[in-house]
Amino acid sequence: MSTGGTGVAAHEQLGPRHVAIIMDGNGRWAARRGLSPSAGHKAGVERIRDLIEACQERHIEVLTLFAFSSENWQRPPKEVELLMTLFHSYLRREARKMQEQGVQLRVMGRRDRFSPRLQRAIAEAEELTREGGNGTLVIAADYGGQWDIAQAARSLAEEVARGERSPESIDDKALGERVQLADLPPVDLLIRSSGEQRISNFILWQAAYSEFYFTETLWPDFGVEELDSALNAYRRRDRRYGGRSDGGLEAHA
Ligand code: IPE
Ligand code: IPE
Ligand code: MG
Repeated sequence: MSTGGTGVAAHEQLGPRHVAIIMDGNGRWAARRGLSPSAGHKAGVERIRDLIEACQERHIEVLTLFAFSSENWQRPPKEVELLMTLFHSYLRREARKMQEQGVQLRVMGRRDRFSPRLQRAIAEAEELTREGGNGTLVIAADYGGQWDIAQAARSLAEEVARGERSPESIDDKALGERVQLADLPPVDLLIRSSGEQRISNFILWQAAYSEFYFTETLWPDFGVEELDSALNAYRRRDRRYGGRSDGGLEAHA
């Protein structure tokens, strides 16, 4: 969440522009305390505000948070209901604060399975924060990476059907322009809390060259220090994108 300004400081060159987080481990955090998963989800939401501020201070332009996957509808109805209520109250409570901070809020995922009331709250929060020029927060809700790629493919197929483009024109660039987040910087760093080391149908396309960072910390315990550990690890990575950063043997031949 860049504050702009002149000159590019060293930390801006080295640090990620876009960080995405799979916020996992609420259930286990609660179970360890003899509490229901709901208590874990409530504690988890509380971590977000500090992180937004920390990202602004660290010149991270975009923070994308995985809040609810396409598959999370399979959870017990009571838990799903609680998650929807939490999402709604989060939007109502935090949108104005984000507007004051200049943070633009965006929600990515299907919306049609949410209640009309929640859909309205999403639209209002996005509208309220639309002018924010001091960073972007993307909340992935009812999001699945496979859905994302499928909806991009469908939009291209519709253009072909209308005679607006040829099948031959469909390539990785065309598809990449239609997946979610296409207008934002690429995801540099993808963090998952709670020790699980899988993507769970999060950003499949967009993570093609993201650096992955896994931590055992459960999401409700994930604080700014943990973010800094991830950022430090990121700075030590050698991002080669399939190339050879040192020029390799050929360079010395
Ligand atoms: C992540 O926490 C939050 C959501 C998936 C909504 P979990 O509820 O998955 O926590 P664990 O994995 O059961 O500990
Ligand atoms: C992924 O976590 C989804 C979110 C964190 C929102 P899950 O807990 O649903 O993933 P699995 O079931 O462990 O793969
Ligand atoms: Mg989980």
